[in-house]
Amino acid sequence: VGAFESDVVRHYDDATVEYRFFGENLHWGLYAAGEAATSKAQHVAAAQRMTAEVVSAAEVRAGYRVLDAGCGIGTTALYLARQHACSVVGVNITASQIEIARKKAAEAGVEDHVSFELADCSKALPLDDASVDAIVTMECGVHLADRATFFRECARCLRPGGLLSGEDWFARDGLSQDEYTRHIQLICDTWVFPDIGTLSSYARLLEDAGLEVRRTLDLAERARENVRTLDRIRRLVAYSPGLRTGRWAEMAPALESAWRDGYFTLGTYVARKP
Ligand SMILES: C[S@@+](CC[C@H](N)C(=O)[O-])C[C@H]1O[C@@H](n2cnc3c(N)ncnc32)[C@H](O)[C@@H]1O
Repeated sequence: VGAFESDVVRHYDDATVEYRFFGENLHWGLYAAGEAATSKAQHVAAAQRMTAEVVSAAEVRAGYRVLDAGCGIGTTALYLARQHACSVVGVNITASQIEIARKKAAEAGVEDHVSFELADCSKALPLDDASVDAIVTMECGVHLADRATFFRECARCLRPGGLLSGEDWFARDGLSQDEYTRHIQLICDTWVFPDIGTLSSYARLLEDAGLEVRRTLDLAERARENVRTLDRIRRLVAYSPGLRTGRWAEMAPALESAWRDGYFTLGTYVARKP
């Protein structure tokens, strides 16, 4: 594991406890147009809706073998196993999260259908060629030092006709260097991202990896309501050793305004292996 990846692991070793305060899905929520995220319960429901939509876009069926790349504490894997009767392999670079994921799978009684492997998604994945029917990946790509290798590895592991469905943090296309530095850089430094890509940069990498891009989608209004959850996280930071690293006090308002002003967004993408 390289120095950058060690920082990622340290971040999740420290902060997973705090993130779980916001639910078992370690990603942002997807809101209905006009919905206000006034409570934590709403965030939890919206995060689950995000999972459901990303999984649905992967067109999984019962019996499919699915890869969850950057699988957090196994919440999406458990959802795939229980709601969709899939078998799932989750990969993650953070061993402490894998431990939690394995415990959760055993508690849910799905340990025969779900497994978790320690791996760096910027490198070769521990899976055979064409060995999975579908891939889901939520908010992992943004952490990756080598997204080109990641998408090439996804293409290698997918069977022909299989879909990759992803969701991630994105910078708006066409930002100047100055805008990127002012609105995005601080976010990367705090959350341990090498950089934040654009939807079109992901589309290019997917195509270069030999996948057909079916669609990319800027979640725009359906994601912006997450600034209220960000505000709740920010208030927790003062009390939370795990989140005291990074420059939260400056970063949170910077992310909030980047989000509101459209420099920053969440997005989804779906690609197919020919
Ligand atoms: C924002 S969390 C999302 C977790 C999960 N996908 C979810 O939505 O609940 C990002 C995840 O990516 C994992 N991750 C970060 N860099 C990685 C890498 N290079 N290889 C594999 N996993 C990585 C982290 O350990 C963490 O579990």
